Amino acid sequence: MRSYRSQGIVPPKRHTLMAHGEGYLFEELFGRHGFSGPSSLLYHQHLPESQDRSTAGPDLSPRYRIEHPLRQGHLVATALERTGTMAEGRQWLLGNEQVLLGICLPVANQAVLTVNGSADELLFLHEGRGVCRTQFGTLAIGPGDYLVLPRGTISQLVFEDPMEARVLCIETASMLDSPARYRTRTGQLHEGAPYCERDVHPPVLGPPEEGPATVWLRRGGLVTIIELEHHPFDVLGWDGSLYPYTFNIADFEPLAGRVHVPPPFHQTFEADGVVVCSFVPRQLDWDPEANALPYHHSNLDSDEVLYYVDGTYAARRGVGRGSFTHHVMGLAHGPQPGALEASIGRERRTDEVAVMLDTFAPLLRTELATTILDPAYPSSWSTR
Ligand SMILES: [Fe+2]
Repeated sequence: MRSYRSQGIVPPKRHTLMAHGEGYLFEELFGRHGFSGPSSLLYHQHLPESQDRSTAGPDLSPRYRIEHPLRQGHLVATALERTGTMAEGRQWLLGNEQVLLGICLPVANQAVLTVNGSADELLFLHEGRGVCRTQFGTLAIGPGDYLVLPRGTISQLVFEDPMEARVLCIETASMLDSPARYRTRTGQLHEGAPYCERDVHPPVLGPPEEGPATVWLRRGGLVTIIELEHHPFDVLGWDGSLYPYTFNIADFEPLAGRVHVPPPFHQTFEADGVVVCSFVPRQLDWDPEANALPYHHSNLDSDEVLYYVDGTYAARRGVGRGSFTHHVMGLAHGPQPGALEASIGRERRTDEVAVMLDTFAPLLRTELATTILDPAYPSSWSTR
């Protein structure tokens, strides 16, 4: 749930006539869970469903590969080529029925508008800077920003230099939100939460746009290309609690403890079957007897994906920024040989920045993912 916000012109009473020019504004409910979930109301100058033509677009579905045998994975995503735009260039690596994860390394800005009809999108701007245009207004985006796009958000990402953009793409089949346990009974982020409403940045509504527009509607992997007679960014006002926003990972307040603080304290978002955590620079476990590294763990109900953003990750050797590790449920993982000894006497702080995604159903690797697997990683805990 997001804070209630209101921008531009909205009538004093919902579902009432709003005169505009020679006619009236058109009210659109943008809502979840039937008519009972979080929602916003948008006021358009034209009919929002003014499509006059639709054609079949590309099939962008991930191509999964069943691995047998299955091994712990280090996906060297820095080996991927740049290709396409944010509209069609997302390179899927891991997924299941609840979540899809990949990276986009565009070579150009998208010319079309896009809308996801079957998933919420969480785009993490690892590198690159620009704006995201939506029907709610424009969001400035830069390094470290999580860009949260609820399904139905019509968007266009415009980078200052698309060749510099590196975007971690996560899509969830259910509503992505802040964890319910961070909220008071009235929905406010409480004092113990690692971020607050001031860290959540909504779009800024600008002048309405005119003219026709092309929108790519994605449902699953299939794109339908829709020609709209009237531009969907013709909105003069909106209000409500459902809208796209940005939250920068640097605004996540880490918790540290006398001994190791486990990952749930770093949780940032959740959706059905998936949690997303942010690891940011922080003090480490300050008791002189504390092990300053994470303990070895078998998180039996989760596949765990770590995306390395910046800094030095002391527990993991040979894994650099822009790479993923994928640890599968049922097997233990933890610091590699020598990491514990190397940590003794070191300063009790870390400069690591990473995004972690834990799922509660196994993740499948795509054919593309299997082409960038580091063959040495599965045996990197062995001392033989
Ligand atoms: Fe782990």
